[in-house]
Amino acid sequence: MSNPTIITLDGPAGVGKTTLAKRVADALGVAYLDTGAMFRATALILGHGADELSEAELETRLADIHFSLSGSGSTSTLSVNGHVIGDEIRTEEVGMMASTVGTLPRVRAFLKEQQQTVGAETPLVAEGRDMGTVVFPGASAKIFLDAAPEIRAQRRVDQLLEMDKPADLTQITEQIKARDHQDRNRAVAPLKPAEDAHIIDTGSLNIEGVFNAIMNAIT
Ligand code: DC
Repeated sequence: MSNPTIITLDGPAGVGKTTLAKRVADALGVAYLDTGAMFRATALILGHGADELSEAELETRLADIHFSLSGSGSTSTLSVNGHVIGDEIRTEEVGMMASTVGTLPRVRAFLKEQQQTVGAETPLVAEGRDMGTVVFPGASAKIFLDAAPEIRAQRRVDQLLEMDKPADLTQITEQIKARDHQDRNRAVAPLKPAEDAHIIDTGSLNIEGVFNAIMNAIT
């Protein structure tokens, strides 16, 4: 399978994928697909205990979930069942629920099909964990962003403090490590760079530096 107009951007929680994926999508004039948002929205719809549903029940519940993508660049809009997905998915609790439903092969197969359908219709920057390895193995360029958990946690703390929100570095570091562990060690489509991915260590770079490194790698 070849996806000549797809750029994949994978990496762990809090590495800056969303900010960078939007900027790259703007620069290329293509849509941006936040697959983490698909896992988060699915987790919210299924609710707590999704990992205890029977296969048949899960299948039935998933059949009622439909995603659509409209717009371009950073203003690309992802909707589920006709509703625009908003900030209700952006908590660490929902991030962990998403990581847990992401261990379920049936959920992964379901979202992979929806992601590939979108990718077949629209040139994309696709952000997630398994975009380069599993969903778009034929992408024209693959990027994997990485940084130590302590660095990602400190960045998140800085963001929260900037928004005048409470932030506990120790707790956030633990949350990031727990999510990393679950995302890297699941049996199906674990978080890892594709063999042909450009790996960028963002530890010593600011957003501008990472953006330039990505653009150099893909153009
Ligand atoms: O990128 P994010 O923090 O919004 O993702 C939330 C969780 O969803 C992440 O911890 C694991 C899961 N996920 C996944 O398994 N595969 C993807 N392609 C994207 C997200």
